[in-house]
Order: sequence, then structure tokens, then C-alpha cells
Amino acid sequence: MIFCKNEEELKLMHKANLVVAETLRELKKHIRPGVTTERLDRIAEEFIRSKNGKPAFKGYRGYPATLCISINEEVVHGIPGKRELKRGDIVSLDIGVLLDGYYGDAALTVGVGQISAEAQKLIRVTEEALYKGIEKVRVGNRLLDVSAAIQKHVEAHGFNVVRDFVGHGIGRNLHEDPQIPNFCAPSTHNPRLKEGMVLALEPMVNQGTYRIKVLEDGWTAVTRDGKLSAHFEHTVAVTKNGPWILSKLDEVA
Ligand code: MF3
Ligand code: CO
Repeated sequence: MIFCKNEEELKLMHKANLVVAETLRELKKHIRPGVTTERLDRIAEEFIRSKNGKPAFKGYRGYPATLCISINEEVVHGIPGKRELKRGDIVSLDIGVLLDGYYGDAALTVGVGQISAEAQKLIRVTEEALYKGIEKVRVGNRLLDVSAAIQKHVEAHGFNVVRDFVGHGIGRNLHEDPQIPNFCAPSTHNPRLKEGMVLALEPMVNQGTYRIKVLEDGWTAVTRDGKLSAHFEHTVAVTKNGPWILSKLDEVA
């Protein structure tokens, strides 16, 4: 069952998502060689709590941290720890916040210092794919229009979308219906998009094979071939005026 949100609820979701966006902006200032992933986690948690939010991932199915930090061949759900970032790494930061009963969720991938041209292309194409999907978040379109737009852009550039994780509806729960694959599986439930639906679109894009495996820690997903992976996510509302990216800061802010 897909829950549609009224205007009041969308405003609250916007607030939660702005905390997510501000946290990502804050974290970007701290991305440099030598910083540990647990330090980034602490910065994020303190920032979120200073805004009266709660980290949404901490404790979710036993996840131990505020952030998911996934480096290089790590796809998603990397657990913060003693590891230091180094020059040339690409780092995906994924954050969820609970504020006033509603969730926000967003992610991005950045390079640490100078990164390879191939890594830059992977990051650029993944973010572009997210926006191709967002462009389809319109009343009357179907869910798979979103999936298809993402997949098409990624594959046109020679990369592959991960199959084992998907985007999701979001609201009073971190994960709600519908599931939003980043590829077109014919069996997928393919509802029409309605005003008030809120979707977390999150393409995970691999340089090589789309196949992944989960490490011994039970969380960290890595590419099977050890090649790079990037991840971007926004929480987006369906409105009668088109897509409303709730987790995006206004340019002036
Ligand atoms: N953005 C991811 C998602 O929405 C992160 C979830 S991590 C978890 O599924 F720790 F909360 F599981
Ligand atoms: Co998500």
C-alpha cells in the first residue's frame, strides 16, 4: 500500500530532508585524506542531533551507525570505523534522519582529492541518472518510467545498475511501498504515480558487473569484480507541478 502525503505532511518531510541535505553539506567540508570514517560518523550524528533530528539508520535492523560510508568497490552500507580516507578514493555518504515523525534520506558520492577520469565519469553518470529518474516523477507516469530512465542513462555510458538493492517509498517509515528498482524487471509492480507519493530514488552504479556480495560484517556490499561503485539518492515528492526534491538545499541557502 502506497501512502500519499498531504501538504502538511510534505512540509514536515521537507524539514527532515533539509536536515539530511545540510548534514551532507557539512560532511563534504570534512572529506580529506586522513580523516577516519568514524569521525565523519560522529560529525554527522552531532549535527543531526543539534537540529533535533534522530539518525534514522542507527538501530535499524541492528545497523550500528548514523552514516553508511562506502569507499571505492563498496556499493552501499559500509560501516564507519578506523579506516582513513586517502587521496584518490571515491566515497559514498548515505544519511537518514527522523524529524517530527517523518523520515528524510539522501546520498552522494565524492572524490577525495584528485581522482581518476574514469572515477569522475562514474560519479557524474550516476548523479545524472538520478536526475533522469527524478524528471519522470510526475502524476500519471508509471513507476517503471523512473526505473527505465535511470537504467537507460547508466547503460548508455557503459556502466551497470545494481539489482540487489532498490529505492523505496518513504514517509512515517524509512522504507515504504513501493520498491523502486533502478532497472526494468517485467515482474515489478508498476503503479501510476499520484500526487503526494514520496519516493527515495537511489541508483547504485557499478563500473563493471552489477553483481555484488555482502561482506562478513553482514552489511558492507561490494562489487564482485572489485571495480568501483557510486551512489546518489534524493527523496522526491510527486506534486501537480512536477517533481519536488525534498532533500535538495535551495541554491541561496
Ligand atoms: N539509503 C539506504 C536505504 O534507504 C540506507 C539504509 S541503511 C540502514 O535503504 F542501515 F538503514 F539499513
Ligand atoms: Co534510501
